[in-house]
Amino acid sequence: MTTETATPTATETTGARSMMAAGAPATAVTGTGDGPRARILGLRCRNCRRPEPLGPSYVCPACFGPLEVDYDLAVAARTLTREAVAARPQGIWRYLELLPVDAAPRRGLAVGSTPLVEATRLGPELGVGRLWLKDDTRNPTLSFKDRPVAVAAARAVEFGFEVLACASTGNLAGAVAAAAAALGLRAYVFVPADLEPAKVDHALAYGATVVPIEGTYDEINRLSLEVADEEGWAFVNVNLRPYYAEGSKTLAFEIAEGLGWRLPDVIVAPIASGALFTKVARGIDELVALGLVEARAVRFVGAQPAGCAPVASAFGAGADVIAPVRTPETIVRSLAIGSPADGLYALELARASRGSIEAVPDEATAAAIRRLAASEGIFAETAGGVTIAAVEQARRSGVIGPDDEVVALVTGNGVKTPDARLFGLEARPAGPDEPGLAPPIRPSYAAFEAWYRGGR
Ligand SMILES: Cc1ncc(COP(=O)(O)O)c(C=O)c1O
Ligand SMILES: [Zn+2]
Repeated sequence: MTTETATPTATETTGARSMMAAGAPATAVTGTGDGPRARILGLRCRNCRRPEPLGPSYVCPACFGPLEVDYDLAVAARTLTREAVAARPQGIWRYLELLPVDAAPRRGLAVGSTPLVEATRLGPELGVGRLWLKDDTRNPTLSFKDRPVAVAAARAVEFGFEVLACASTGNLAGAVAAAAAALGLRAYVFVPADLEPAKVDHALAYGATVVPIEGTYDEINRLSLEVADEEGWAFVNVNLRPYYAEGSKTLAFEIAEGLGWRLPDVIVAPIASGALFTKVARGIDELVALGLVEARAVRFVGAQPAGCAPVASAFGAGADVIAPVRTPETIVRSLAIGSPADGLYALELARASRGSIEAVPDEATAAAIRRLAASEGIFAETAGGVTIAAVEQARRSGVIGPDDEVVALVTGNGVKTPDARLFGLEARPAGPDEPGLAPPIRPSYAAFEAWYRGGR
């Protein structure tokens, strides 16, 4: 296991910069300045605050609460300035001081620094004054999961693991498979047996062993706990979860930097386990603590599919417990977690920030996928459809006001869920003036004209 006070040599640091596609800060950032004060203090229980040493552990031995990484923000603040960030290469490691690895890894995929685009057509259509889309359809394996996986994989290497694994609702499988390939690790990914074929094929392509499990995600997750213990594998979202979850904070850092070191009024994000949603908020708190952005009351709006909406249901009912959804029924497989690990924290965040958690019917999700693609040229997977539909719902209910500046996280690419775009469309050929699939036409202008003019 590496220690926090180990500072890479000049050669190592230079090597990291030249070899690593994702880029690295020019200097090591652990324990710099007046002595070996550590930037990463260890792990800490989110509930009882008990400290634990850094290691591949995720649950508090005293109260069974989840463990989180604990930083000395004063140490991070010494080197993480706006100017320093601007001078660094693109990618998630430009925010190294707030990530739980000792140094930026020498190898790995080019993750992060995805576009933050102003939705000048979709925004007005939804009645939102200013709408930005964080386009994470463009990460190496086409979803935001490359962010948490890059961090967990880097830690797995530091801990000396040789097998990278995960319990996945789909996108994580591809992200783990690709990260393992890039780092020379073996990958085992556990997925629901009825997962979309595009997601299975994607993970297979990187050389992973894909293990389909005939059960729900929650059952796969329980199995993964046992496999992690018995086989000693690094499950990114099980025994490496404290590190994995931190990777999603980079979305918050990139949003703030992309807005010129400002915060928006509202952030809208999809919720499966709730890690992404809650970690974006934590990332913002850290930026404020470091003085990188001015504090502002950001409202957090979460998005879940109505067919698997345990957090949205608790929010709607004003409940303080989350009733698990035993059998999710939705086209949004990527968000089909019936018993979300961070569900209660997500609920608290939506309430405390005066946001909401929206439950979105599948028809609205499919329509939102088409609308986003047609208005902005971004083809999202189902989680992105849920998010855009949630913007619309929250605007209608007044949680989002007409003049609010809103950032919506589009977290996955539509090529992973090709069937969903047609969901709810009538199975009939498109006419000459409407978007859709035309009937097959013989290769003659006469045949084309008969359809094109005849259909009017
Ligand atoms: C595309 C996409 N967006 C969002 C999420 C939600 O992530 P979390 O489990 O951190 O809530 C997932 C989870 O698998 C996903 O695949
Ligand atoms: Zn505890």
